[in-house]
Amino acid sequence: MENITHHTSLILPSLLAADWSQVGAEISRAEQAGARWLHLDVMDGAFVDNISFGPQMVSTVRQNTSMYLDVHLMIHRADHYLERFLKAGADNITLHVEANYQTSMAETLKRIRDAGRHCGLALHPATPFEVAKPYLEQIDLLLIMTVVPGFGGQPFMENETMPKLAAARDYRDLHGLKYHLEVDGGIYAHTAPIAKKHGANLFVCGTSFFGPPDASDAMKQLAAAVA
Ligand code: DX5
Ligand code: ZN
Repeated sequence: MENITHHTSLILPSLLAADWSQVGAEISRAEQAGARWLHLDVMDGAFVDNISFGPQMVSTVRQNTSMYLDVHLMIHRADHYLERFLKAGADNITLHVEANYQTSMAETLKRIRDAGRHCGLALHPATPFEVAKPYLEQIDLLLIMTVVPGFGGQPFMENETMPKLAAARDYRDLHGLKYHLEVDGGIYAHTAPIAKKHGANLFVCGTSFFGPPDASDAMKQLAAAVA
């Protein structure tokens, strides 16, 4: 398990943007480019208007890499499916505050922690930071979505999300909390520094990492942008 603090900036390739006809090779490409965390987007066709993959893919990825697996659940009833994602080998599991739970989100976070894994909460661009406040002591990361979740390749929503990111950073620092601040959606070498300036330290990169033919070069440029 990766032991880093929120002072470390990391680029997280998002598998959603990889070439799925050769997932194994794409995982190696990310690893060889120097990625330490890999971001996995799970979509259920109900919480978001797209369907991606589930626990079986997480398990396949787990068997093919020792990278830290950051699993972003864009699904309802994450508590119902939780056991399967834990079993699949997720290192961090992030839940959406806007999703439905059979039990509760707090209970689901507790189950992730009790399993010895890290947990996070994600906020849709339209969801205010205040909604996450009651849970901040229980989480390892807060994901500020910088696009409406569901699809890769969308433009970075700077005006809608950067004030919230800065508020989350200021609140954390004022209260001596430790959570990482992650941004996801439209992150490129020109947008990542804006997010960094507002407090982000984990940068999810789909199109900007897997799009260019040379992943090492893409990683170099992205890492330099947030150094
Ligand atoms: C969007 C997903 C993202 C997606 C980002 O709903 O949560 O992780 O892969 O893709 P890009 O980097 O292309 O915006
Ligand atoms: Zn994501």
